[in-house]
Amino acid sequence: MYVLGIETSCDETGVAIYHDQKGLINHFLYSQVDMHSEYGGVVPELASRDHIRKLVPLIKKLLQETNLKNSNINGIAYTAGPGLMGALLVGAATARSLAWAWQIPAVAIHHMEGHLLAPMLEKNTPTMPFIALLISGGHTLLVHVKAIGNYQLLGESLDDAAGEAFDKAAKMLDLGYPGGARLAALAEQGEPKYKFPRPMTDRPGLNFSFSGLKTFTLNTLKNSDKSQQDKADIAAAFQTAVADTLTIKCKRALKQTGLKNLVVAGGVSANQQIRNALTEMTSKEHANIYFPRLEFCTDNGAMIAYAGYQRLFTGHQQQDLAIIAQPRWLLTAIENRP
Ligand code: KG4
Ligand code: ZN
Repeated sequence: MYVLGIETSCDETGVAIYHDQKGLINHFLYSQVDMHSEYGGVVPELASRDHIRKLVPLIKKLLQETNLKNSNINGIAYTAGPGLMGALLVGAATARSLAWAWQIPAVAIHHMEGHLLAPMLEKNTPTMPFIALLISGGHTLLVHVKAIGNYQLLGESLDDAAGEAFDKAAKMLDLGYPGGARLAALAEQGEPKYKFPRPMTDRPGLNFSFSGLKTFTLNTLKNSDKSQQDKADIAAAFQTAVADTLTIKCKRALKQTGLKNLVVAGGVSANQQIRNALTEMTSKEHANIYFPRLEFCTDNGAMIAYAGYQRLFTGHQQQDLAIIAQPRWLLTAIENRP
């Protein structure tokens, strides 16, 4: 069973082929970052147009370099949401059209389900049930994963997502867009001298709030000399506050559910300090932790191909010929499977 995965929810065109026995066969990613950075953020219309330009040539290249023919592909998975409407439509319409032409099924995948299954592409995979911390540019979710498709939301961000907070703080520090990884690099040259809050950790519950950290960053910067060292120290303090906050909540979620497996995925899970803090906590708690490899923390086609394989060929999920694109779509609203 070969499944072609297509990801076009935001500013990355990702394609991949997953095989049920051989695992991930190949994958390609085209990032639009250079195009959007000129504008300081993603311009949705430019994103859609670029997906149109890049997607079909990328699929052609993937098949050619993998030595597979159209007739070898048994199913297609595409990201149907959440994301930018125009960008999603490019992937959805392309996937549906190819599936129609090739006479194979296609399935709509929830982008965050893709992220949460990304660690399944590694050698050491988590067994369900587990807790998933999903930290991306658009979402911060703590989920009790009971089985594929059976997700219980334990907590979420009430305002900015973790990645969004990283990007906004990075902008204040003049790091440009996208800022998460750049802020992380700057933080390495600083010390967390400034005392940042750990939002919502002093009260019960598993929700997050990151917009206060953004304001705190701005005020701290205003009151500093704005030297390069000050900026590095602020970046370090910001990152430490996010890492601490995520760690406190994950520890709480493990305690509350009695589970011993933690999965951490989404773009911000590429952050080394956050990976280290969570790894240290799970080892103290005698729990196990699982991350995707760095390139599959951020958006990619591989996670969508894997989720598609699960949905198409292990759960007998049937879908009609509709082209599905849902910019807003709750992870817990996707169809539960037995
Ligand atoms: O999962 P993702 O690629 O796209 C969404 O689904 O949103 O996540 C992108 C987010 C951006 O906010 C980016 O700044 C952040 O992940 N990010 C990082 C790092 N690498 C990417 N944040 C902190 N540290 C990093 N190393
Ligand atoms: Zn994502």
